[in-house]
Amino acid sequence: MKLTILTENNAVPPFEAEHGLSMLLEQGEYQLLFDTGAGEVFAGNCSLMKKDFSDLNGIILSHGHMDHTGGLHILSPCTVWHAPGITQHHFSHHPGKPVRTLTMPERCIQRLQQCRCREISSFTEILPGIFLTGPIPRISGEDCGGPFFSDNEGMVKDDLSDEQALLTKDGILIQGCCHAGVINTLEYCRKEHPEITVHTVIGGLHLLLASEDRLKQTADYLRGSGIRTLYLLHCTGEHAIDFLRKQLPGIKIFTPGVDGSAILL
Ligand SMILES: [Fe+2]
Ligand SMILES: [Fe+2]
Repeated sequence: MKLTILTENNAVPPFEAEHGLSMLLEQGEYQLLFDTGAGEVFAGNCSLMKKDFSDLNGIILSHGHMDHTGGLHILSPCTVWHAPGITQHHFSHHPGKPVRTLTMPERCIQRLQQCRCREISSFTEILPGIFLTGPIPRISGEDCGGPFFSDNEGMVKDDLSDEQALLTKDGILIQGCCHAGVINTLEYCRKEHPEITVHTVIGGLHLLLASEDRLKQTADYLRGSGIRTLYLLHCTGEHAIDFLRKQLPGIKIFTPGVDGSAILL
């Protein structure tokens, strides 16, 4: 599989960076867009790379957060694979910061309604050798909370049940933010597809606000998991990346941004 990062928190000029994530996946005759970033940056970077979306088979939305779905409105209607509840309300209440909506923007919801939506409610093979997890159960006891709420008042905890990840038959796991936690996600993949050994994880791991205990729990799990390579993007957090680098000398850790090159997985 060839993976090109179209938008991410870091970029090499002339490419533009933003807090968001979008990746183009190419495998055989298939071309898939995984998330759309927060706005139009992914499309601008894509055209700088002399690529376009004319051969797109469809769009996979990892979850409804606006930094992953906010560019949907500029794409032509096509097939979209998403987990149930993708348009539900999301808010973040970071301590000491104003409440922020993270819900998919209205213009993107309108475009989604014009698309051929394929709701993924359980582990599904969407194309040969390409699986989507659908909602990821919290089965490992992993500490994966966050300052996320379903209401503006901060009364109802948001479990991000509209989140999914992509798994290939060759053992690659692709994430958006991984709000469900990387341990839960890998355990779910192992439970549903024990014949697949995941060796590479790419995406955001959302460890920005993780406690030292959680970072240690994550490192301890990854150390014995069979993972050989991590591409840590977007919302993983610099402290978490440093921590994992120190704790996991046996795992190759890369932090690519947008630079126009493709990652061969
Ligand atoms: Fe994100
Ligand atoms: Fe997110």
